[in-house]
Amino acid sequence: MAAYLDHAATTPMHEAAIEAMTATMRTVGNASSLHTAGRRARALVEESRERIGVALDARPSEVIFTSGGTESDNLAIKGTYAARRATDPSKRTIVASAIEHHAVLDPIEFLVNTQGARVRWLGVDRGGRLLVDSLDELLAERADSVALISVMWANNEVGTVQPVREVVTRAQAYGIPVHTDAVQAVGHLPVSFADSGVDLMTITGHKVGGPLGIGLLLARRSAGLVPLVHGGGQERQVRSGTLDVPGIVGLAAALDVTVAQREAQTRRLTALRDRLIEGALGLGLGAQVTGTWRAGDAQERLAGHAHLIIEGCEGDSLLYLLDAAGIECSTGSACQAGVPQPSHVVLALGHTEAQARGALRLTLGHSSTDADIEAFLGALPAVVERARRAAGVA
Ligand SMILES: Cc1ncc(COP(=O)(O)O)c(C=O)c1O
Repeated sequence: MAAYLDHAATTPMHEAAIEAMTATMRTVGNASSLHTAGRRARALVEESRERIGVALDARPSEVIFTSGGTESDNLAIKGTYAARRATDPSKRTIVASAIEHHAVLDPIEFLVNTQGARVRWLGVDRGGRLLVDSLDELLAERADSVALISVMWANNEVGTVQPVREVVTRAQAYGIPVHTDAVQAVGHLPVSFADSGVDLMTITGHKVGGPLGIGLLLARRSAGLVPLVHGGGQERQVRSGTLDVPGIVGLAAALDVTVAQREAQTRRLTALRDRLIEGALGLGLGAQVTGTWRAGDAQERLAGHAHLIIEGCEGDSLLYLLDAAGIECSTGSACQAGVPQPSHVVLALGHTEAQARGALRLTLGHSSTDADIEAFLGALPAVVERARRAAGVA
């Protein structure tokens, strides 16, 4: 079997989630129907909402089910922007970190291109941590015009954890709503919606051992959100559409397992991640680790995230050669029209384009083992040699 080192892309479902979901798929019921089958489906949804509230320390009424992280990010950004502009048209500035996922970057660009928004991207230091001072400067200059601030909880490429609490403290002083994309954080860090102080938080099922195509936005009751999808008025009139009852049940079951196993998994994965990074750096290939990394630490960098730059190689060549050797991983960045683009995250950390092209992301999760790490380290020297030859370097 291949060594799967791409848990940040999607992680295998937990058995309990598969069982809960398949049992629900065998029953009929639209949660909006009034007959017995409908009420049974509704009961499953509301029970799941409560369990999710417990897992994430949120009120059940703060849970809005969506189709996943991308939709939740879009709803948070576009829905808040529209609501804030409706009450005060001068609130046109959106503030976000430069290392957000495209599910945050692109809705912001859309609002800039079509809805008169202005954006201020906040930089990060070499370790990948938000420069909070730049937020202070910006707020001192133009807090009145800020519609919202969006800063992810943990980065999906390098795994650095962001100072969300510090952002919230500053935003609250000016009454500015804060959204955080916590897609990569849940399961690796303690995530409490109540304690975080944020107004909106994005979560997706398939990164926590739940099904694909289901996620949620946690939204405080006070958060004004203009809906993006209109129809049957489900989910507080904010997100219409027939609820995916099996998906919701599967997500609740997965979150239960993920949160219950978090501490033990974090310890285990930190040791595996450190072995991977130390092993890769020690092979004499000129590899460097990207972002903050201290052996044993899982507060500043996610326990499951390793991210390397191997200069003189194209990340895509590394990926395909590793795949051929039975190792599945990622470059972390997207292709546009089939052309690999250097990652905006790696560039934001201050690396050159040449370095960014040699980026490789290796992410671990609940099914990762020592054997996966050893398989990767065993395959890497020959793969790097071939990738450098292909690039004309070696
Ligand atoms: C940080 C982050 N936000 C959002 C998403 C998108 O989530 P989904 O795949 O559920 O749409 C991802 C997925 O890679 C992610 O890593």
